[in-house]
Amino acid sequence: MRTFLLCALAAPLAAESLILAPADQTAVPAEVRLIARHLGKPEFLVDGKPLAAESPLAGVLHLTVTLAPGPHEIALDGGPRIRVHSGPGAPAAWQPFRAHPPGGAPCTACHAVRNGEWSFARASLVGVCFACHDRAAFPKAHTHEPGIVPDCQMCHSPHGSVKARHLKLEREAACKLCHN
Ligand code: HEC
Ligand code: HEC
Ligand code: HEC
Ligand code: HEC
Repeated sequence: MRTFLLCALAAPLAAESLILAPADQTAVPAEVRLIARHLGKPEFLVDGKPLAAESPLAGVLHLTVTLAPGPHEIALDGGPRIRVHSGPGAPAAWQPFRAHPPGGAPCTACHAVRNGEWSFARASLVGVCFACHDRAAFPKAHTHEPGIVPDCQMCHSPHGSVKARHLKLEREAACKLCHN
C-alpha cells in the first residue's frame, strides 16, 4: 500500500476529464464549489454559460458558484456533465452533497504543486489529514494505527460525498480490501 501511495503522489493527472465535486444528481447548497480535472479550457459550463475557473495547475480546476434555486447542469467543455439541484424541490432520490472539508478549506490544505505536478502538501496523507483530525481518535474507528491504513482515499472521498463519513464503501468491504 505504501508503494501505491508513493505512485499516486507522483502520478501525472490522468487524461480523462472528471468532475470531482459535487457528485451527479445531488442536492447542493446555493453556494457550491466545483472541482474538476480537465486538460481542456479552464472553465466550467454552468447551464451552458462558460465561467472561468481558477487553475492552480494545468488540468486542475475549481470555482465557487452561487446557483439560483432550481435545477442546474454543470459541464466541462467536450467533457462530462452533471446535474444538481439548488434549494428546495430536488428530486426525492437526490441526496444532499456535503462538501469536505465543510466550509471549503483552500486546496492547499491538502495539495501543493511540486515539480510541476499536482501533489500533496506533505509526504503522506497521514500528515495532511491529521492537521485537522484527531489522531488519537483514529484507532477506535479504524482498528488500526494510521500507519497501517495510510491511504485514506481508499475508503473516503476527499472532496465530499452524499455518504456518512464520506465512505466510498461499507466498513466490512473496506476491511476486506486487505483481509479475506
Ligand atoms: C481534505 C484534503 C483535500 C482538499 C482540501 C482538496 N483535495 Fe483534492 N485530493 C485529495 C485527495 C486525498 C486526493 C486523491 C484522491 C484519490 O486518489 O482518489 C485528491 C485528488 C485531487 C485531484 C486528482 C484527482 C484525480 O483523480 O486525478 C484533483 C484534480 C484535485 N484533488 C483537485 C483539488 C482542488 C482543485 C481542490 C481545491 C478546490 C482540492 N483538490 C482540495 C484531497 C484534498
Ligand atoms: C480501510 C478503509 C479506511 C481507510 C483506509 C481509512 N478509513 Fe477512515 N473510516 C473508515 C470507516 C469504515 C469509518 C467509519 C467508522 C465507524 O463509523 O465506526 C471511518 C471513519 C473515519 C472518520 C470519522 C471519525 C470517527 O471517529 O468516526 C475520520 C475522520 C476518518 N475515518 C479519517 C481517516 C483518515 C485521515 C484516513 C487516512 C489516514 C482514513 N480515515 C483511512 C475506513 C477507512
Ligand atoms: C482543513 C481541515 C481538514 C482537513 C485537512 C481534512 N479534514 Fe476531514 N473534515 C474536516 C471537518 C471540519 C469535518 C467535519 C467535522 C467532522 O466531522 O470532523 C471533516 C469531516 C471528515 C470526515 C467525516 C467525519 C464524519 O464524522 O462524518 C471524514 C471521513 C474526513 N473528514 C476525512 C478526512 C481525510 C481522509 C482527510 C485527508 C485527505 C481530511 N479529512 C482532511 C476538516 C478537515
Ligand atoms: C491497508 C490494509 C489493511 C486494511 C484496509 C485493514 N487492515 Fe487490518 N491488518 C492489516 C495488517 C498489515 C495487519 C497486521 C499488522 C497489525 O497487526 O497491525 C492487520 C491486522 C489486523 C488485525 C489483527 C489480526 C491478527 O491476526 O492479529 C485485525 C483484528 C484487523 N487487522 C482488523 C481490521 C479491520 C476491522 C479493518 C477495517 C476497519 C482492517 N483491519 C483493515 C492491514 C489492513
